[in-house]
Amino acid sequence: MTVINALFSWTVVALLISTAAAATEYTNHTVGGAAGWFFHTATNTSVTNYTSWAANQTFNLGDYLIFRTDTNETVIQTFNETTFQSCSTDDASDNDTFHYYGGSTAFSKPHTIAVPLTEEGPNYFFSDANDGIQCQNGLAFGISVNHGLGLPPSLNQPPPSPFIEPPGPDAKSPPVKNAGGSPLLQNGALSLGADARVVLCALIFGAAAFLRS
Ligand SMILES: *[C@@H]1O[C@H](CO)[C@@H](O)[C@H](O)[C@H]1NC(C)=O
Ligand SMILES: *[C@@H]1O[C@H](CO)[C@@H](O)[C@H](O)[C@H]1NC(C)=O
Ligand SMILES: *[C@@H]1O[C@H](CO)[C@@H](O)[C@H](O)[C@H]1NC(C)=O
Ligand SMILES: *[C@@H]1O[C@H](CO)[C@@H](O)[C@H](O)[C@H]1NC(C)=O
Ligand SMILES: *[C@@H]1O[C@H](CO)[C@@H](O)[C@H](O)[C@H]1NC(C)=O
Ligand SMILES: *[C@@H]1O[C@H](CO)[C@@H](O)[C@H](O)[C@H]1NC(C)=O
Ligand SMILES: *[C@@H]1O[C@H](CO)[C@@H](O)[C@H](O)[C@H]1NC(C)=O
Repeated sequence: MTVINALFSWTVVALLISTAAAATEYTNHTVGGAAGWFFHTATNTSVTNYTSWAANQTFNLGDYLIFRTDTNETVIQTFNETTFQSCSTDDASDNDTFHYYGGSTAFSKPHTIAVPLTEEGPNYFFSDANDGIQCQNGLAFGISVNHGLGLPPSLNQPPPSPFIEPPGPDAKSPPVKNAGGSPLLQNGALSLGADARVVLCALIFGAAAFLRS
């Protein structure tokens, strides 16, 4: 029985390790491949089918979408399917929809926009130029972002710590005691990623089960 327990634990550990190893690197996906991110005004169509382009790719956290485009198109990222379907940002909320502009107001200026994938699950992209006609006529696609390796440290910045009023000259602040938590988890820079913690827990669990047997 304990042997079976131990075997089961080690199987869980092995599974966790092999899942973590599935993605081995971050990928930069050039949107539309060689065609880039363009709308062809003369034919009133996007230059390629972005839905079928996206269908051939696997997207993971920490990957980038590279939009090779010009100032006639925009790049909008949204996590809200209603906004995506509407081809418009008019009713969109600032917290689920993001505009990536190249900083030029002149038409036809080439530029490249790199969008990091930082949220798992559905992500939608479209151009809202020409009052939504570009999007309605194909300059739009949705993807599903997998966990992969998780976010790299460069994209995984912890939020700034809340501002704490420094004590005034006559404030009698009691000595602060460390509650005794793990120093590893108190310092954002030192803390392990969630995945590493899961694997670590499983390792400890597995080792404990093994020792019990
Ligand atoms: C992917 O794109 C990002 C953003 O432009 C860049 O910093 C990074 O070096 C690129 N990585 C590769 C492997 O080209
Ligand atoms: C482009 O297509 C849209 C419909 O998707 C249409 O309303 C518009 O008139 C077309 N524009 C031209 C120039 O054909
Ligand atoms: C783009 O490709 C998808 C399938 O990959 C297809 O369903 C869709 O009709 C195509 N769009 C156009 C405008 O051809
Ligand atoms: C996607 O892959 C299929 C099969 O591998 C291929 O027939 C198709 O041309 C590819 N589409 C694109 C846009 O690369
Ligand atoms: C960009 O838009 C301007 C104004 O609508 C147009 O004159 C120009 O031809 C467009 N450029 C391209 C490359 O479609
Ligand atoms: C999505 O955006 C629409 C406006 O485009 C808004 O009415 C709706 O509440 C949003 N949905 C969520 C889940 O935030
Ligand atoms: C986005 O903001 C709206 C209010 O503007 C709020 O109701 C909603 O919960 C927020 N959504 C997220 C995901 O923070």
